[in-house]
Amino acid sequence: MTPPAFHRDSRLADRALRRYLPRPGSVPPTVRRAMLYSLFPGGKRLRPVLAIAACRALGGRLADVLPAAAAIEMIHTYSLIHDDLPALDDDDLRRGRATSHRVFGEAMAILAGDALLTHAFEVAATHPRGAASAPRRLRAITLLARAAGVTGMIGGQVMDLEAEGRPYGAARLRRIHRGKTGALISASVQIGGVLAGAMPRRIAALRRYGDRIGLAFQIVDDILDREGTTRSLGKAAGKDAAARKATFPGLLGVQASRRLAESAIDQAIRAIAPLGRRGAELEAIARFVVTRVR
Ligand code: IPE
Ligand code: IPE
Ligand code: MG
Ligand code: MG
Ligand code: MG
Repeated sequence: MTPPAFHRDSRLADRALRRYLPRPGSVPPTVRRAMLYSLFPGGKRLRPVLAIAACRALGGRLADVLPAAAAIEMIHTYSLIHDDLPALDDDDLRRGRATSHRVFGEAMAILAGDALLTHAFEVAATHPRGAASAPRRLRAITLLARAAGVTGMIGGQVMDLEAEGRPYGAARLRRIHRGKTGALISASVQIGGVLAGAMPRRIAALRRYGDRIGLAFQIVDDILDREGTTRSLGKAAGKDAAARKATFPGLLGVQASRRLAESAIDQAIRAIAPLGRRGAELEAIARFVVTRVR
């Protein structure tokens, strides 16, 4: 079940996205339309919700984290647009409707993705305004760049593509998942902590939590690709086996994969135990990651 705070925080993320998108009139209308098309109505908003929840758990203010939360979702959405391109996973359906390149053409989909990625960094660099928050912003941007870049998500996407149709083991698969999915999820949690001004040992706990839920999240994504329906997922089911992707259910079967995801979630929850009651929302989100059906 979706935790109650999740709904509220995903609406906050929606509002922040609208607020920090380029103003109409300031950019070519086509690309803005394509950016909006992929952002709204959007998906679960897990990553911005994590950033907001982590910031709150560490005593930060909402205004400190909302711009970064929007930036993170822009980067995630860009990654989906590009992931769906014919040269990558070649998908026609995303978030319940036609993929960006199906609607706007490949060139505009590529550019809308580029636009979301780069605009995200402008937002994260310039908000919240003021010199006092500049050191925290810089740390958040560094985390974001590292997670989105070749040491994180892009590296993972490369390994994911190169693993298609090839033999693989659990260690390689963990590296792929940590990169393509875990890096941005973990960065989201850490950024929430950084923007709240948390101490290094708290950030380290958030990183352990984020790494574990990131792994569990992609294992569940792979399970849902097998067991979910195109209708319930809002994206084509059964694609991983067809593309001979490296997945945990492919390696271990669904049952063992689910157990692995559940044990990662247990570890995530243990990692934030030092937060005590303030960690309750993060704990609920972690549980949602393995119980979700879409
Ligand atoms: C899908 O992410 C891509 C992966 C990294 C597995 P989500 O399942 O979070 O997608 P949305 O944002 O809810 O559409
Ligand atoms: C995508 O993983 C990870 C990204 C960086 C977008 P998948 O290719 O499994 O995501 P879906 O299943 O298309 O959402
Ligand atoms: Mg992919
Ligand atoms: Mg895909
Ligand atoms: Mg998938």
